[in-house]
Amino acid sequence: MYKARIIGTGSSAPSKVLTNKDLENMVDTSDEWIVTRTGIKQRHIAENGEPTSKFAYQASVKALEMAGVSPDQLDMIIVGSVTPDMATPSVGCIVQHQLKATQAAAFDISAGCTGFIYALSIANSYIKSGMCQKILVIGAETLSKITDYQDRTTCIIFADGAGAAVLSKEEGDRGILSTHLYSDGAYGKLLYMPGGGSALPATYKTIDDREHYLKMDGNKVFKIAIKSLEEAALTALSHNNITEGTVDLLIPHQANSRIIDAIAKRLKLPPEKVFSNIDTYGNTSAASVPIALDEANRQKKLKENHLILLDAFGAGFTWGSALLRW
Ligand code: ACO
Repeated sequence: MYKARIIGTGSSAPSKVLTNKDLENMVDTSDEWIVTRTGIKQRHIAENGEPTSKFAYQASVKALEMAGVSPDQLDMIIVGSVTPDMATPSVGCIVQHQLKATQAAAFDISAGCTGFIYALSIANSYIKSGMCQKILVIGAETLSKITDYQDRTTCIIFADGAGAAVLSKEEGDRGILSTHLYSDGAYGKLLYMPGGGSALPATYKTIDDREHYLKMDGNKVFKIAIKSLEEAALTALSHNNITEGTVDLLIPHQANSRIIDAIAKRLKLPPEKVFSNIDTYGNTSAASVPIALDEANRQKKLKENHLILLDAFGAGFTWGSALLRW
């Protein structure tokens, strides 16, 4: 049996940093509130003229370099994003062109903050079926472009960046052991952007009514996120006959440090077995898991044969997990 194994990772974030102090001057909030309620101290924000594809491309170049794979070896590029450069072409096609990945199919998928795990699961299926040998999987966002900087309940958490991973078809025990994906559209309007799509195309009124920004009922999202992340993580473990404490590293979606702490507790994992960089990146949606994966990788926290659990939850609602033997 073949496995899809991650052989290279990369990440990128805008150079502009927005601190909690900066936000104190923009909305009625405080550094103390943001740190205690979310764990976030700063976040990276794209400048005008910096689209999502810029960071997706930069992360991809680093991942390909680590993997020792040239772009023309790629069979497919899959991008998880809710903030593509434009409705069409996809970020996948833009990056395919920039990389000169001449043999690759390319497309985007929209699964909120679970976008990277959805993309990873699709890539895993293509590799395991024998249809592809090498796939570039990316999570990339510029959430700042759809964030309302007059809304203190959202502008303090959302941020920008990208992470990428190169998957290769390999023999042996190492690689993706399982993925589990879920959705429940009944909760769609707890976290959504009303305007700009076919339901409510842009008009002067939709702009005046601030319909082109994310709206979130944060407290309701918070509670469902914990339950869903726990479900996805525990299913991954039971499916592979693994007990909670034996995971070597949990890399969860970086949504809120209180959510991360709650999941770690339910999985009986001590802090050293949970990776978090939310303090410096904030919530980068589909980019959060692959940025964290890349940082953990470059910090040499991922050792050969380690069991790595990826776990995410986001708009849709969507949620899912992936268990990897590194
Ligand atoms: N500064 C100061 N006070 C604030 C702020 C702020 N930035 N934001 C809210 N408050 C106030 C509220 O008005 C409220 O005041 P009140 O009690 O007088 O009414 C109080 O703080 C508590 O508000 P809550 O909304 O209950 O705060 P909560 O503890 O839930 O934290 C947060 C809010 C950080 C948004 C949290 O709910 C959260 O992280 N939710 C989950 C986010 C998430 O996981 N999203 C999904 C993934 S993102 C994606 O898919 C794109």
